[in-house]
Amino acid sequence: MRVGVLTGGGDCPGLNAVIRSIVRKGVQTYGFEFTGFRDGWRGPLEGRTVPLDVPAVRGILPRGGTILGSSRTNPLQIPDGERRVRENLTAYEVDALIAIGGEDTLGVAASLAERGVRVVGVPKTIDNDLNGTDYTFGFDTAVNIATEAIDRLHTTAESHMRTLVVEVMGRHAGWIALHSGIAGGANVILIPEQPFDLDQVSAWVESRFRISYAPVVVVAEGAVPAGGRMVTQDDSRDAFGHVRLSGIGEWLAHELECRTGHEARTMVLGHLQRGGTPSAFDRWLATRFGLHAIDAVKEGDFGKMMALRGTEIVRVPLSEATQGLKTVDPSLYAEFDVFFG
Ligand code: F6P
Repeated sequence: MRVGVLTGGGDCPGLNAVIRSIVRKGVQTYGFEFTGFRDGWRGPLEGRTVPLDVPAVRGILPRGGTILGSSRTNPLQIPDGERRVRENLTAYEVDALIAIGGEDTLGVAASLAERGVRVVGVPKTIDNDLNGTDYTFGFDTAVNIATEAIDRLHTTAESHMRTLVVEVMGRHAGWIALHSGIAGGANVILIPEQPFDLDQVSAWVESRFRISYAPVVVVAEGAVPAGGRMVTQDDSRDAFGHVRLSGIGEWLAHELECRTGHEARTMVLGHLQRGGTPSAFDRWLATRFGLHAIDAVKEGDFGKMMALRGTEIVRVPLSEATQGLKTVDPSLYAEFDVFFG
């Protein structure tokens, strides 16, 4: 049996750990052969491949990024895209495909699976916004990076008695903001799921200065002021229709400076959150997802995504996992009220 592997969408730490795990178990336990498809769905679309065997995955466990490359190519938006993908899978004698990605990459996998393509999915994204799984790999590393940044920003904020606004990624979900904000002891955490009231945020910031502490505000890139609009980089959209977020941090710092009279600075963490070596937890989770994904292929259980439920890895239908986003529940956010201000 020959298995194709691709990584699509925004990269995240742990992708290489999954690839290694799939190949090691596939070769050693099942005697499978592999074809690596380059740059997400562009690989099967354009027939871009790389050799993938045990020597190719040696030493990649702790390495960030992906040895297969990634892209946000959507073959279903390209005329004849599906036919070209199918033809290339046949041309490369690929019997089954493992797609490692987030809602977009796996959304394509779900559509193809419904039309008979033999595909299995593995959930990755720093945003942790995929339905059906408690956690995606990449998220833990991003939260650790953001937490360390918040820790560091506290000390410089205190020295100068300034407000420090930390903008984190996460698109339309506030998971990174909430987890890193709580872990880093932020004084305000703003998430996309809860439009924020600027007067309330200013009051929290001022109350912090009143007791001689400098406030650290964590804001998710998709957070929105009540009655306002999401801040985007420009009007462009990717192949899946997403706008490029970022800018809310700068906007908020300016507003807070004007309202409170205290100097405010912004730190946009950006792609730092996606780069570099994965945390031990992400290596563990990615490795388990890989082992279970190749088992699903062996059993012919296609159209499924590997998912973490508690401590178990289970298989959920790709169609279910890619329907809607997993966002932060208001009751979870409300648990932390006591730390704001
Ligand atoms: O989905 C992962 C993510 O990092 C989001 O948090 C962010 O909005 C987006 O990707 C950034 O995309 P790009 O790397 O294409 O700028």
